[in-house]
Amino acid sequence: MLTAPQLRSLKGTRPITWITAYDVVQAQVAEEAAIDVILVGDSLGMTTLGYESTIPVTLDDMLRHAAMVRRGAPHTMMIVDLPYLTYYNKDIALASAGRIMQQTLANGVKLEGGQAILPVVDALIQEKIPVIGHLGLTPQSVHTMGGYKVQAKSSSAIEELVQDAQALSEHGVSAIVLEGIPDRVAAYVTAHIEAPTIGIGAGPDVDGQVLVFHDCLGLSSSLPKFARPFADIRHAMIAGLQSYRDSVINRTFPQDAESYHLPDSEWEKFIQ
Ligand code: KIV
Ligand code: NA
Repeated sequence: MLTAPQLRSLKGTRPITWITAYDVVQAQVAEEAAIDVILVGDSLGMTTLGYESTIPVTLDDMLRHAAMVRRGAPHTMMIVDLPYLTYYNKDIALASAGRIMQQTLANGVKLEGGQAILPVVDALIQEKIPVIGHLGLTPQSVHTMGGYKVQAKSSSAIEELVQDAQALSEHGVSAIVLEGIPDRVAAYVTAHIEAPTIGIGAGPDVDGQVLVFHDCLGLSSSLPKFARPFADIRHAMIAGLQSYRDSVINRTFPQDAESYHLPDSEWEKFIQ
């Protein structure tokens, strides 16, 4: 299992692979595929809980699902998102992150934000909790951003993003997720900070990539521009269920080899 210092020192050696997961089976397959880091993202809200955003996701939701993921992937570095309004000051953040670390055996937590949350980042690291940053398109800010829009598109916004990334890196985060920003901005940030950058919708010139499990494997019903489906699981599942349904209706399932049998002698005793 990768440690937080190892994650940070992977920068410049080889690309780092992250995937999200929300339950035991997803965690098992991520671990079997030798993914470096599993992120229990608050995208849980959309992928699994059926919400339209990450805003309704609670700390209890994250605790329950992260514990499932840990049981499925005991040997993979697991980072858990601090959900909306669970880290707005140092005390709240320590209480939230403390529960995640102790109840799910996570290896660290991820928070959205830059210079504004440095006191919180410091407090967590002070208490030996590895922290991952998240900059650019930060979904918990959907209302103040005015929707899910590509960020860092003006020179002043780029300047602010670079300063946020530098500050987080200097304060000791183990990595920074860069979401929904132009490729050359992500490349510039990556070249100017010590912490590894993990991109999603941030182009190729970052230190690693992360995708939402459902987007990566073709389970989602629709896909953002940046996501490539590396499998077609939704259609495979539908085809499998249609085949099962057909086999039941035309009585080809179950067959003899799929049934339990009783010896004739016992049956005779019963039937007479
Ligand atoms: O919640 C999530 O899945 C995330 C990733 C998209 C980085 O934060
Ligand atoms: Na998230």
